[in-house]
Amino acid sequence: DWTMEEFVGKEIARIREICGETGRVIGAVSGGVDSTVAAKLMHEAIGDRFHAIMVDNGVLRRDEAAQVNVMLNKDLGVNLTIVDASDLFLSRLEGVEDPEQKRKIIGNTFIHVFEAEAAKLDSAEVDKGKIEWLLQGTLYPDVIESISFKGPSATIKTHHNVGGLLEDMRLKLIEPLRELFKDEVRALGRLLSIPASLVQRHPFPGPGLAIRILGPVTRAQVQILQQADAIYLEEIRAAGLYERISQAFAVLLPVRAVGVMGDRRTYEQVVALRAVQSEDFMTADWFVFPPDILRRISSRITNEIAGINRVTYDITSKPPGTVEWL
Ligand code: XMP
Repeated sequence: DWTMEEFVGKEIARIREICGETGRVIGAVSGGVDSTVAAKLMHEAIGDRFHAIMVDNGVLRRDEAAQVNVMLNKDLGVNLTIVDASDLFLSRLEGVEDPEQKRKIIGNTFIHVFEAEAAKLDSAEVDKGKIEWLLQGTLYPDVIESISFKGPSATIKTHHNVGGLLEDMRLKLIEPLRELFKDEVRALGRLLSIPASLVQRHPFPGPGLAIRILGPVTRAQVQILQQADAIYLEEIRAAGLYERISQAFAVLLPVRAVGVMGDRRTYEQVVALRAVQSEDFMTADWFVFPPDILRRISSRITNEIAGINRVTYDITSKPPGTVEWL
Protein backbone atom coordinates (compact mmCIF):
# COMPACT_ATOMS: atom_id res chain seq x y z
CA ASP A 1 0.00 0.00 0.00
CA TRP A 2 1.37 3.37 -1.03
CA THR A 3 0.12 6.79 -2.03
CA MET A 4 1.19 8.83 -5.03
CA GLU A 5 2.47 11.58 -2.71
CA GLU A 6 4.79 9.06 -1.03
CA PHE A 7 5.90 7.77 -4.41
CA VAL A 8 6.83 11.28 -5.60
CA GLY A 9 8.79 12.02 -2.43
CA LYS A 10 10.72 8.75 -2.58
CA GLU A 11 11.40 8.93 -6.30
CA ILE A 12 12.66 12.51 -6.13
CA ALA A 13 14.96 11.53 -3.26
CA ARG A 14 16.19 8.52 -5.25
CA ILE A 15 16.90 10.64 -8.35
CA ARG A 16 18.81 13.20 -6.25
CA GLU A 17 20.86 10.47 -4.66
CA ILE A 18 21.69 8.87 -8.03
CA CYS A 19 22.64 12.18 -9.65
CA GLY A 20 24.54 13.60 -6.71
CA GLU A 21 25.29 17.32 -6.56
CA THR A 22 26.41 17.77 -10.14
CA GLY A 23 25.09 14.85 -12.28
CA ARG A 24 23.40 15.87 -15.53
CA VAL A 25 20.57 14.07 -17.31
CA ILE A 26 19.10 14.34 -20.80
CA GLY A 27 15.89 12.88 -22.13
CA ALA A 28 13.78 12.91 -25.26
CA VAL A 29 10.28 14.34 -25.02
CA SER A 30 7.50 13.78 -27.54
CA GLY A 31 4.54 15.70 -26.17
CA GLY A 32 3.05 12.43 -24.93
CA VAL A 33 2.03 11.68 -21.35
CA ASP A 34 4.92 9.44 -20.31
CA SER A 35 7.82 11.58 -21.48
CA THR A 36 6.19 14.76 -20.16
CA VAL A 37 5.53 13.31 -16.70
CA ALA A 38 9.05 11.85 -16.56
CA ALA A 39 10.55 15.20 -17.61
CA LYS A 40 8.55 17.16 -15.04
CA LEU A 41 9.58 14.73 -12.29
CA MET A 42 13.26 15.15 -13.26
CA HIS A 43 12.83 18.91 -13.22
CA GLU A 44 11.35 18.75 -9.71
CA ALA A 45 14.30 16.62 -8.60
CA ILE A 46 17.32 18.31 -10.20
CA GLY A 47 16.02 21.47 -11.93
CA ASP A 48 18.15 22.69 -14.85
CA ARG A 49 20.57 19.79 -14.58
CA PHE A 50 17.89 17.95 -16.54
CA HIS A 51 17.72 18.86 -20.21
CA ALA A 52 14.86 17.76 -22.48
CA ILE A 53 15.25 17.42 -26.23
CA MET A 54 12.38 17.30 -28.68
CA VAL A 55 13.17 16.22 -32.21
CA ASP A 56 10.81 17.58 -34.87
CA ASN A 57 10.89 14.73 -37.38
CA GLY A 58 8.61 16.45 -39.91
CA VAL A 59 5.80 13.94 -39.30
CA LEU A 60 4.37 15.41 -36.11
CA ARG A 61 0.86 16.74 -35.69
CA ARG A 62 0.16 20.32 -36.77
CA ASP A 63 1.82 22.84 -34.36
CA GLU A 64 2.97 20.02 -32.09
CA ALA A 65 6.53 21.27 -31.52
CA ALA A 66 5.32 24.79 -30.71
CA GLN A 67 2.71 23.46 -28.28
CA VAL A 68 5.23 21.26 -26.48
CA ASN A 69 7.50 24.29 -26.17
CA VAL A 70 4.75 26.34 -24.53
CA MET A 71 3.68 23.59 -22.19
CA LEU A 72 6.97 22.04 -21.14
CA ASN A 73 9.23 25.07 -21.21
CA LYS A 74 7.00 28.09 -20.59
CA ASP A 75 4.36 26.51 -18.31
CA LEU A 76 6.28 23.73 -16.55
CA GLY A 77 9.71 25.39 -16.57
CA VAL A 78 11.61 22.43 -18.02
CA ASN A 79 14.90 23.13 -19.80
CA LEU A 80 14.05 22.26 -23.44
CA THR A 81 15.70 22.29 -26.84
CA ILE A 82 13.59 21.71 -29.93
CA VAL A 83 15.56 20.47 -32.91
CA ASP A 84 13.93 20.97 -36.29
CA ALA A 85 15.27 17.99 -38.25
CA SER A 86 12.26 17.73 -40.55
CA ASP A 87 14.29 18.26 -43.76
CA LEU A 88 16.66 15.43 -42.85
CA PHE A 89 13.85 13.00 -41.93
CA LEU A 90 11.75 13.84 -45.00
CA SER A 91 14.69 13.52 -47.36
CA ARG A 92 15.56 10.10 -45.93
CA LEU A 93 11.92 9.02 -46.24
CA GLU A 94 11.68 10.11 -49.87
CA GLY A 95 10.11 7.43 -52.07
CA VAL A 96 9.81 4.91 -49.19
CA GLU A 97 6.48 3.05 -49.00
CA ASP A 98 7.25 -0.01 -46.87
CA PRO A 99 6.04 0.64 -43.30
CA GLU A 100 8.85 -1.25 -41.57
CA GLN A 101 11.34 0.66 -43.68
CA LYS A 102 9.69 3.93 -42.60
CA ARG A 103 9.92 2.88 -38.95
CA LYS A 104 13.58 1.93 -39.30
CA ILE A 105 14.54 5.18 -41.03
CA ILE A 106 12.73 7.29 -38.45
CA GLY A 107 14.15 5.30 -35.51
CA ASN A 108 17.74 5.48 -36.80
CA THR A 109 17.55 9.12 -37.81
CA PHE A 110 16.10 9.96 -34.41
CA ILE A 111 19.06 8.35 -32.61
CA HIS A 112 21.48 10.15 -34.89
CA VAL A 113 19.87 13.60 -34.33
CA PHE A 114 19.48 13.05 -30.59
CA GLU A 115 23.13 12.01 -30.18
CA ALA A 116 24.34 15.00 -32.14
CA GLU A 117 22.26 17.31 -29.97
CA ALA A 118 23.46 15.69 -26.75
CA ALA A 119 27.07 16.07 -27.92
CA LYS A 120 26.41 19.77 -28.62
CA LEU A 121 25.01 20.26 -25.13
CA ASP A 122 28.00 18.46 -23.63
CA SER A 123 30.54 20.66 -25.40
CA ALA A 124 28.58 23.90 -24.99
CA GLU A 125 28.40 23.51 -21.23
CA VAL A 126 31.69 21.80 -20.35
CA ASP A 127 31.95 23.71 -17.09
CA LYS A 128 28.87 21.86 -15.84
CA GLY A 129 30.42 18.43 -16.33
CA LYS A 130 29.54 15.62 -18.71
CA ILE A 131 26.02 14.31 -19.20
CA GLU A 132 25.97 10.89 -17.60
CA TRP A 133 22.34 9.85 -17.55
CA LEU A 134 19.57 9.24 -20.06
CA LEU A 135 15.98 9.56 -18.88
CA GLN A 136 13.50 7.06 -20.25
CA GLY A 137 9.76 7.07 -19.58
CA THR A 138 9.57 3.28 -19.46
CA LEU A 139 6.42 1.98 -17.73
CA TYR A 140 5.91 -1.27 -15.84
CA PRO A 141 4.17 -3.03 -18.76
CA ASP A 142 7.18 -2.19 -21.01
CA VAL A 143 9.51 -3.67 -18.41
CA ILE A 144 7.45 -6.87 -18.38
CA GLU A 145 7.21 -7.00 -22.15
CA SER A 146 10.94 -6.61 -22.64
CA ILE A 147 11.57 -9.42 -20.14
CA SER A 148 9.05 -11.91 -21.53
CA PHE A 149 8.83 -10.44 -25.05
CA LYS A 150 5.34 -11.87 -25.42
CA GLY A 151 3.45 -8.85 -26.73
CA PRO A 152 2.22 -9.47 -30.27
CA SER A 153 2.91 -5.82 -31.10
CA ALA A 154 6.58 -6.38 -30.45
CA THR A 155 6.77 -9.06 -33.11
CA ILE A 156 4.21 -7.82 -35.63
CA LYS A 157 5.56 -4.29 -35.83
CA THR A 158 8.90 -2.99 -34.63
CA HIS A 159 7.93 -0.40 -32.07
CA HIS A 160 10.50 2.30 -32.13
CA ASN A 161 12.45 2.87 -28.92
CA VAL A 162 15.72 4.50 -28.00
CA GLY A 163 17.50 1.46 -26.52
CA GLY A 164 20.37 1.84 -29.00
CA LEU A 165 21.22 5.21 -27.51
CA LEU A 166 22.65 3.69 -24.38
CA GLU A 167 25.35 1.61 -26.02
CA ASP A 168 26.48 4.36 -28.38
CA MET A 169 26.62 7.13 -25.83
CA ARG A 170 27.70 5.20 -22.76
CA LEU A 171 24.88 6.84 -20.84
CA LYS A 172 23.37 5.23 -17.79
CA LEU A 173 19.64 4.75 -17.78
CA ILE A 174 17.28 6.45 -15.36
CA GLU A 175 13.67 5.21 -15.40
CA PRO A 176 11.50 6.90 -12.76
CA LEU A 177 8.21 5.46 -14.10
CA ARG A 178 9.36 1.83 -14.29
CA GLU A 179 7.02 0.66 -11.50
CA LEU A 180 3.91 2.46 -12.74
CA PHE A 181 0.96 1.54 -14.91
CA LYS A 182 -0.48 4.06 -17.37
CA ASP A 183 -3.31 5.13 -15.02
CA GLU A 184 -0.75 5.78 -12.29
CA VAL A 185 1.37 7.89 -14.64
CA ARG A 186 -1.72 10.00 -15.32
CA ALA A 187 -2.37 10.37 -11.57
CA LEU A 188 1.28 11.31 -11.08
CA GLY A 189 0.96 13.89 -13.86
CA ARG A 190 -2.03 15.49 -12.17
CA LEU A 191 -0.14 15.60 -8.88
CA LEU A 192 2.74 17.37 -10.65
CA SER A 193 0.27 19.97 -12.00
CA ILE A 194 0.49 18.86 -15.61
CA PRO A 195 -2.66 20.13 -17.40
CA ALA A 196 -5.55 17.66 -17.65
CA SER A 197 -5.66 18.05 -21.45
CA LEU A 198 -2.17 16.57 -21.62
CA VAL A 199 -2.64 13.90 -18.98
CA GLN A 200 -5.64 12.51 -20.92
CA ARG A 201 -3.89 12.52 -24.29
CA HIS A 202 -4.28 9.64 -26.74
CA PRO A 203 -1.08 7.77 -27.61
CA PHE A 204 0.77 8.90 -30.75
CA PRO A 205 3.27 6.56 -32.46
CA GLY A 206 6.97 7.45 -32.64
CA PRO A 207 7.00 7.20 -36.47
CA GLY A 208 4.10 9.67 -36.42
CA LEU A 209 2.19 10.58 -39.54
CA ALA A 210 4.66 8.60 -41.69
CA ILE A 211 2.77 5.38 -40.86
CA ARG A 212 -0.57 7.12 -41.49
CA ILE A 213 0.36 8.18 -45.02
CA LEU A 214 -0.06 4.95 -46.92
CA GLY A 215 2.03 5.92 -49.95
CA PRO A 216 5.30 7.87 -50.09
CA VAL A 217 5.74 10.60 -47.47
CA THR A 218 6.13 14.13 -48.83
CA ARG A 219 5.77 17.51 -47.16
CA ALA A 220 2.58 18.12 -49.18
CA GLN A 221 1.07 14.80 -48.03
CA VAL A 222 2.05 15.51 -44.43
CA GLN A 223 0.30 18.90 -44.61
CA ILE A 224 -2.91 17.38 -45.98
CA LEU A 225 -2.97 14.75 -43.23
CA GLN A 226 -2.14 17.31 -40.53
CA GLN A 227 -5.20 19.33 -41.56
CA ALA A 228 -7.51 16.28 -41.56
CA ASP A 229 -6.14 15.14 -38.18
CA ALA A 230 -6.64 18.61 -36.68
CA ILE A 231 -10.26 18.92 -37.88
CA TYR A 232 -11.08 15.38 -36.74
CA LEU A 233 -9.69 15.86 -33.23
CA GLU A 234 -11.15 19.34 -32.91
CA GLU A 235 -14.65 17.99 -33.63
CA ILE A 236 -14.17 15.01 -31.30
CA ARG A 237 -13.18 17.38 -28.49
CA ALA A 238 -16.02 19.80 -29.28
CA ALA A 239 -18.49 16.90 -29.06
CA GLY A 240 -17.09 15.94 -25.64
CA LEU A 241 -16.05 12.50 -26.92
CA TYR A 242 -12.24 12.69 -26.62
CA GLU A 243 -12.06 11.00 -23.23
CA ARG A 244 -14.40 8.18 -24.24
CA ILE A 245 -12.14 7.24 -27.16
CA SER A 246 -8.76 5.56 -26.57
CA GLN A 247 -7.19 6.69 -29.83
CA ALA A 248 -8.47 8.59 -32.87
CA PHE A 249 -6.64 9.61 -36.02
CA ALA A 250 -6.93 10.13 -39.76
CA VAL A 251 -5.15 8.08 -42.43
CA LEU A 252 -4.28 9.29 -45.93
CA LEU A 253 -5.02 6.59 -48.51
CA PRO A 254 -2.88 6.14 -51.63
CA VAL A 255 -5.86 6.18 -54.01
CA ARG A 256 -7.89 8.81 -55.79
CA ALA A 257 -11.65 8.90 -56.09
CA VAL A 258 -13.96 10.71 -58.44
CA GLY A 259 -16.14 13.46 -56.99
CA VAL A 260 -18.05 16.54 -57.99
CA MET A 261 -17.67 20.16 -56.95
CA GLY A 262 -20.12 22.68 -58.41
CA ASP A 263 -20.29 21.70 -62.07
CA ARG A 264 -16.77 20.27 -62.04
CA ARG A 265 -15.60 16.67 -61.82
CA THR A 266 -12.83 16.15 -59.25
CA TYR A 267 -10.30 13.35 -58.91
CA GLU A 268 -8.73 13.56 -55.47
CA GLN A 269 -7.41 11.69 -52.45
CA VAL A 270 -9.34 9.79 -49.79
CA VAL A 271 -9.06 10.08 -46.01
CA ALA A 272 -9.98 7.24 -43.65
CA LEU A 273 -10.95 8.04 -40.07
CA ARG A 274 -10.22 5.62 -37.23
CA ALA A 275 -11.36 5.74 -33.59
CA VAL A 276 -11.01 2.86 -31.14
CA GLN A 277 -11.80 1.99 -27.56
CA SER A 278 -9.27 -0.24 -25.87
CA GLU A 279 -7.94 -1.26 -22.46
CA ASP A 280 -4.37 -2.05 -23.46
CA PHE A 281 -4.26 -1.77 -27.29
CA MET A 282 -3.74 -5.54 -27.61
CA THR A 283 -7.39 -5.68 -28.62
CA ALA A 284 -9.63 -2.79 -29.64
CA ASP A 285 -13.20 -2.07 -30.74
CA TRP A 286 -14.10 0.57 -33.27
CA PHE A 287 -15.97 3.48 -31.75
CA VAL A 288 -19.64 4.13 -32.60
CA PHE A 289 -20.02 7.86 -33.34
CA PRO A 290 -23.33 9.70 -33.31
CA PRO A 291 -24.05 10.11 -37.07
CA ASP A 292 -24.28 13.92 -36.84
CA ILE A 293 -20.70 14.14 -35.64
CA LEU A 294 -19.40 12.04 -38.53
CA ARG A 295 -21.45 14.10 -40.97
CA ARG A 296 -19.95 17.31 -39.65
CA ILE A 297 -16.39 15.98 -39.70
CA SER A 298 -16.78 14.68 -43.24
CA SER A 299 -18.21 17.92 -44.54
CA ARG A 300 -15.49 20.00 -42.90
CA ILE A 301 -12.68 17.79 -44.21
CA THR A 302 -13.94 17.80 -47.80
CA ASN A 303 -14.76 21.53 -47.74
CA GLU A 304 -11.68 22.81 -45.96
CA ILE A 305 -8.90 20.64 -47.33
CA ALA A 306 -7.82 21.06 -50.95
CA GLY A 307 -7.03 17.64 -52.42
CA ILE A 308 -9.52 15.54 -50.41
CA ASN A 309 -12.92 14.72 -51.86
CA ARG A 310 -13.95 11.63 -49.92
CA VAL A 311 -13.98 10.47 -46.29
CA THR A 312 -14.47 6.90 -45.05
CA TYR A 313 -14.83 5.49 -41.52
CA ASP A 314 -12.92 2.38 -40.48
CA ILE A 315 -15.17 -0.25 -38.84
CA THR A 316 -12.52 -2.90 -38.20
CA SER A 317 -11.76 -4.21 -34.72
CA LYS A 318 -8.39 -5.49 -33.49
CA PRO A 319 -8.00 -8.33 -34.24
CA PRO A 320 -8.14 -8.86 -37.17
CA GLY A 321 -7.12 -5.24 -37.88
CA THR A 322 -4.38 -3.45 -35.97
CA VAL A 323 -5.00 0.01 -34.55
CA GLU A 324 -2.71 1.67 -37.11
CA TRP A 325 -3.11 0.85 -40.79
CA LEU A 326 0.64 0.27 -41.22
P1 XMP B 1 -1.15 -1.52 -33.45
O1 XMP B 1 -1.23 -0.81 -34.79
O2 XMP B 1 0.07 -2.40 -33.31
O3 XMP B 1 -1.00 -0.35 -32.39
O4 XMP B 1 -2.43 -2.25 -33.12
C1 XMP B 1 -1.08 -0.53 -31.00
C2 XMP B 1 -0.63 0.76 -30.36
O5 XMP B 1 0.75 0.98 -30.66
C3 XMP B 1 0.92 2.20 -31.36
N1 XMP B 1 1.96 1.98 -32.38
C4 XMP B 1 3.21 2.47 -32.28
N2 XMP B 1 3.79 3.23 -31.34
N3 XMP B 1 5.79 3.19 -32.59
C5 XMP B 1 5.07 3.60 -31.51
O6 XMP B 1 5.64 4.31 -30.68
C6 XMP B 1 5.27 2.43 -33.57
O7 XMP B 1 5.96 2.08 -34.54
C7 XMP B 1 3.91 2.05 -33.41
N4 XMP B 1 3.07 1.30 -34.18
C8 XMP B 1 1.88 1.27 -33.50
C9 XMP B 1 -0.43 2.51 -31.98
O8 XMP B 1 -0.56 3.91 -32.24
C10 XMP B 1 -1.35 1.99 -30.90
O9 XMP B 1 -1.49 2.92 -29.85
